[in-house]
Amino acid sequence: MPTGNKTPPEPFIMVIFGATGDLTQRKLIPALYALHVEQLLPPRFFVIGFARHEKSERQFRAELRNAVKQFGRVPLEDSAWKTFSRKILYQRGEYADPAAFRSLARRLALLAERNHMPANHLYYLATPPETFGPVGDALRASGLSRSRRDGWARIIVEKPFGYDLESARSLDRRLSAAFSESHTFRIDHYLGKETVQNLLVFRFGNSIFEPLWNQKYVDHVQISALESIGVEQRGRYFDRLGTLRDVVQNHMMHLLTLVAMEPPASMDATAVRNEKVKVLSALRPLSRECAPADVVRAQYAPGRVGRKRARGYRQEEGVAPDSRTETFVALRTYVDNWRWAGVPFYLRTGKRLAEQVTDISIHFKSVPQALFDTGGAPLYPNMLSLRIQPHEGISLRFQVKVPEMRMAVRPFQMDFTYQDAFGSRPPEAYERLLLDAALGDPALFIRDDEVDAAWRFLTPVIEGCEGAGAPTVTYPAGSWGPVEADRLIERDGRRWELLTPPEHQHAIRECKL
Ligand code: BG6
Repeated sequence: MPTGNKTPPEPFIMVIFGATGDLTQRKLIPALYALHVEQLLPPRFFVIGFARHEKSERQFRAELRNAVKQFGRVPLEDSAWKTFSRKILYQRGEYADPAAFRSLARRLALLAERNHMPANHLYYLATPPETFGPVGDALRASGLSRSRRDGWARIIVEKPFGYDLESARSLDRRLSAAFSESHTFRIDHYLGKETVQNLLVFRFGNSIFEPLWNQKYVDHVQISALESIGVEQRGRYFDRLGTLRDVVQNHMMHLLTLVAMEPPASMDATAVRNEKVKVLSALRPLSRECAPADVVRAQYAPGRVGRKRARGYRQEEGVAPDSRTETFVALRTYVDNWRWAGVPFYLRTGKRLAEQVTDISIHFKSVPQALFDTGGAPLYPNMLSLRIQPHEGISLRFQVKVPEMRMAVRPFQMDFTYQDAFGSRPPEAYERLLLDAALGDPALFIRDDEVDAAWRFLTPVIEGCEGAGAPTVTYPAGSWGPVEADRLIERDGRRWELLTPPEHQHAIRECKL
């Protein structure tokens, strides 16, 4: 795991394939600009945008300036932009065209020579997944994938890494012909989120929670990643994937592993990733028949988000009118090991829901005997909520006596919020991850066996769900999801719950109390 303060990496050139796309504009360039402003990039640094569109460097820079203005965490400032934009170059080319890669190689060599830089190259695949293999091949054929004495060559691969177990393995074989594992950085931006990393600090930097973190005291765990936005402009892309591949296979699996893993021997990348793989390998297989007791897939139908009408998924641009792709998933799984035997992990994630909330909650067991008269009201078990976003923080629910003559007991909530404690907005995930890749630190990236284990768990159920006859459940846009997701957890005598920090309680309702 990255430790201590960050220092700028050695001089390097980053090449972004897919430079005219959404990811480059919304995330990559704003993150690089923030690193530049915070002086975390070396003075000798360039970024070459590589894409198929014909466009001038001037036009490319102007588009990126708008992107930083619109999406940047760090506000756009003229003089900083001026120095930063001089480092941005553009190159048109097809993703599998040898001539385009030869010309890229010449440009990289020239740039390094003129600026007296080592040949350190960081390639970013921000292209559609089907181009990952061809770009890897082209980099290999042009000699650009070789790390040499005078410089390294690393590749960052965006998710989804593969479409299922088989395709992930074959992509791995193809890319590994060009880049060794230690030069391959599979990115999942959730791992770069400040609050996700805080999960490890919370668990292993405190002594009072870890003794309770097991089947003796934990009744169940809930992991929710709820989004209020729909598929936006990504309909065509998303419709091929669905939520199981787009979010569950990666973001949800990582949250689960970080909650469930054993303490690693050190925060070293290998030690942490070894523990994560053990969790993924201990996941109890879900039913191949896509049984509703295990997994619920659903799609948003027209509804209302706030006061506005929202269209249904099938009416979104780029989505097939008869699409059966899921935009919501709820599932129940178990980590079959000594620590978690018998403890269900309930996961739910989806688009176009009532609120945006990403939250992990640990639900502790009830006290063994009810000593207090609660007038028939349930004695709420303790609950610990780790809020990943928004309103990042931690809340703990416990029982208190109401100060009056009779014995009345009520649940209360103790809150920590990042905003109150630190004031500033934490760095964006991509800032940290791009810097780590340039520094060669793989800790927050995904190792090949992690991808493999996550696909091994999910591929059978995806295939089962997509098989003939799998029902497509719907939920109205702006709701908390389909009733089937409530049933999945209620069947076990539990319910979905979120704790919210006091100042936002008006905004986020506790789910289905
Ligand atoms: C992306 C998915 O990886 O994560 C998107 O492709 C999803 O569909 C997004 O919206 C969620 O990320 P965040 O950081 O907004 O929670």
